[in-house]
Amino acid sequence: MTEIASGKLWRVRHEILPDCDSHSWRGIYCRLSFPPMAQAALPGFRDFYPSELAERAHIMRAWRDVMRRYAFVEYDGPPLEPLDLYRAKSGDELVGQLYTFTDKGGREVALRPEMTPTFARMVAARANSLRKPVRWFSIPQLFRYERQQKGRLREHFQLNADIVGEGSVAADAELLALAIDVVRSLGLGVSDVVARVSDRRLLQAVLTAEGVSGDSFPDVYGVIDKLGREPVDVSREKMTSAVGAALADRVLVIVNHSGLEDLAKTYAGVEAVAPHVDRLREYFSHLQALGVSDWVKLDLSIVRGLAYYTGIVFELFDARGEFRAICGGGRYDALLNTLGGVDLPALGFGMGDVVLGDLLRSRRLLPTTSAGADFWIAGDHECLTSSVMSVATRLRGHGRSVEYALKPQQLARQLKTASSAGAASAVLLLRDQFSDGQVTIKNLRDGSEQTLLLEDFIDSQR
Ligand code: HAM
Repeated sequence: MTEIASGKLWRVRHEILPDCDSHSWRGIYCRLSFPPMAQAALPGFRDFYPSELAERAHIMRAWRDVMRRYAFVEYDGPPLEPLDLYRAKSGDELVGQLYTFTDKGGREVALRPEMTPTFARMVAARANSLRKPVRWFSIPQLFRYERQQKGRLREHFQLNADIVGEGSVAADAELLALAIDVVRSLGLGVSDVVARVSDRRLLQAVLTAEGVSGDSFPDVYGVIDKLGREPVDVSREKMTSAVGAALADRVLVIVNHSGLEDLAKTYAGVEAVAPHVDRLREYFSHLQALGVSDWVKLDLSIVRGLAYYTGIVFELFDARGEFRAICGGGRYDALLNTLGGVDLPALGFGMGDVVLGDLLRSRRLLPTTSAGADFWIAGDHECLTSSVMSVATRLRGHGRSVEYALKPQQLARQLKTASSAGAASAVLLLRDQFSDGQVTIKNLRDGSEQTLLLEDFIDSQR
């Protein structure tokens, strides 16, 4: 056994094979064998073997299908962006999770951790020529250097659906109905998923009425956003340092409010609260008309971690509270102005494939394997190899998926492989039938067989 020090070609094993030229490097090369790969994928990154890719494809098919039903059109942007795009508006937490480096041209760049800044930039750049409201969706792979935890990886695919150019609350309702329809179309129901909604403007009006001052809002929202993910004591301590002890307890009680009419009664005398209550009433009545109100709950503790939200915000969770958020979004009316100098209202959501996949798997709602071929072509003798290939080619020409053994094998062996590969039917080329132009079609699910003329069979597959 010879060691080659290049680090790429590791070992030369065995003696030279008789059919190799033992005096040439080509001869030696045919003996190279590579040791098993030591490296696994990076932490938080996934290898998608076919069964996992089948799950991902199932989710993405449902995403695209619902988007089409809501008349959204697909777009994409670059996976690598200028770092400043995220510094401008994504918020400190996300900026701290960026995969970032300086490229060979000296630019500071980052792998996209979210799609919204790219989307806002793209729409702002063509704002005048686009038909409003813009209804676009995308399915980018995103990268965040997250702490390792259940439901959070360092890459994920995220459905993004966004509407631009519509300030009415009907657009907020349309967006949430769309998010709910996505999970519904994957087989989940009201006992599986809950949508928690709030309005940052309502919360701000209520907290202002309680005495929270303008400059403490970012800190207060930061603490509220982490409620339930941080120990209560830690939240109380942080809230106390933001607004003082007395107000801290009050704020923590307020964000537990879940009844809109209750809230309306409590703040009946506060003029600044009333329009936000009215807007939410209208929102809930639209949700009723759209057939999703059973899925929705008011929850003032939903503020969203990202820095750009300005209005109604929402998150979808599994109803038993076992997983992290499935989806999150809301209205961000100022972002297009910040990133592109265009004053257009906007709203949208992101739904990742990780938590959604975990939840669907836990409810046995994901396919376990990818489908096998429509037909497996098998001959009972090596002399039929060309005929097997030609039948396969003709069926593929009619759009059928077809496989066959790539080396001579006994018929029984071919049929065994066809079954384990999940093929639906086998097309048997048997010498005594085939010489009369006939083939036998064997249904591999129930074992039934039918013999017919090859030409009739091929015609029937058009
Ligand atoms: P986000 O809340 O950061 O929002 O992410 C949305 C969803 O993406 C989450 O609810 C979760 O399902 C998934 N997700 C986020 N980070 C990870 C991760 N590290 N691993 C697995 N899944 C993850 C946004 O990104 C906003 N830009 C969404 C948006 C679009 N808002 C308006 N338009």
